[in-house]
Amino acid sequence: EKGGYDCFMEKEIFEQPDGIKHTLERRLDESGKIVLDDIHIDKSYLDYINKIYIIACGTAYNAGILGKTAMQKWMGIPVITDIASEFRYNQNFVDEKTLVILVSQSGETADTLAVLRDSKKKGARVLAVTNVVGSSIAREADDVFYTWAGPEIAVASTKAYTTQIVALYMIALNFALEMEKISEAEYFDIIDKMKEIPSKVQEVLDNRDYINVIADEIVGSEHAFFLGRGVDYALAMEGSLKLKEISYIHAEAFAAGELKHGTIALVEDGTPIISIATQQNLFEKMVSNMEEVRARGAYVVAISQKHNKEVEKVSNRVIYIPDSEDILSPIIAVIPMQLLALTVSSKRGLDVDKPRNLAKSVTVE
Ligand code: F6R
Repeated sequence: EKGGYDCFMEKEIFEQPDGIKHTLERRLDESGKIVLDDIHIDKSYLDYINKIYIIACGTAYNAGILGKTAMQKWMGIPVITDIASEFRYNQNFVDEKTLVILVSQSGETADTLAVLRDSKKKGARVLAVTNVVGSSIAREADDVFYTWAGPEIAVASTKAYTTQIVALYMIALNFALEMEKISEAEYFDIIDKMKEIPSKVQEVLDNRDYINVIADEIVGSEHAFFLGRGVDYALAMEGSLKLKEISYIHAEAFAAGELKHGTIALVEDGTPIISIATQQNLFEKMVSNMEEVRARGAYVVAISQKHNKEVEKVSNRVIYIPDSEDILSPIIAVIPMQLLALTVSSKRGLDVDKPRNLAKSVTVE
């Protein structure tokens, strides 16, 4: 059942090229346009709403932050992302003019489901992005987008995350085209670039040996930090969640611009800092942050595109990923971080698929 892999997480990491491909390409019609079968939202509704909330927990929340970036960029509408267990109890502004998007692999997460019910009561329309057909969230939502990742068994989410990002981007693109906020040319250009992602993800998977070297160097660490700016910060959050939940290393994500506001005090000789530098407009800033932590003794592992050779001067190790559009790079850059967490966990002799204290589906609060 593990198909020759040592654990489900490993199998699921390697299933990502297929999962991403299915989620995207099975929804394209002959003209190459995205068809969203179970979403019945039209232009008049999109012109009527004034904001979108994207609500989820854990990894699904981390995917939601990227969805927000895409929706704000392409649809030009304010999007707020929040954690379901916070959102429920804080003041929010859900009303008829709000589209609430819930992201949940299992479709059963208690806090996310509670937000669904509250939002419907307040007159909002609810769109669910989920992996499980017939789940509570799928059944109760007004509109559904199924991430066709296939069953995810390992507690640590991997293929659900990458397909959730693809799903949110596809929704954003379709809505933006409907609203006439992007041109057809731009729309098709991004879809073409998305089609290249599965083979780029495969390329990273094929280079997994290098991750082994880095895993050996951080396996004994007590702490590890993840640094990024913009979408790379959202990605840093996901990288740190993966590492902490299965390796039990204390891992935290920092927005690189926040270093001087407190976090740099934590850097000691040998502290591993995974630094993600995939965004062209933020690249120089990120490089100078890496320089700062390196000067204080950090063991810097950079994740960047092949043409950004400059990162070599400010890091101990570099994981190169294939080039792509800035907004698409997280789907590729997350792969080495998943592999790193997996490798460190198994080197520590832990149960990769069933980390202590955690359950796959959180149906109680
Ligand atoms: C982390 C992880 C969790 C889930 C979270 C939400 O690897 O898997 O953080 O993402 O519990 O679960 P779903 O997506 O089922 O609502």
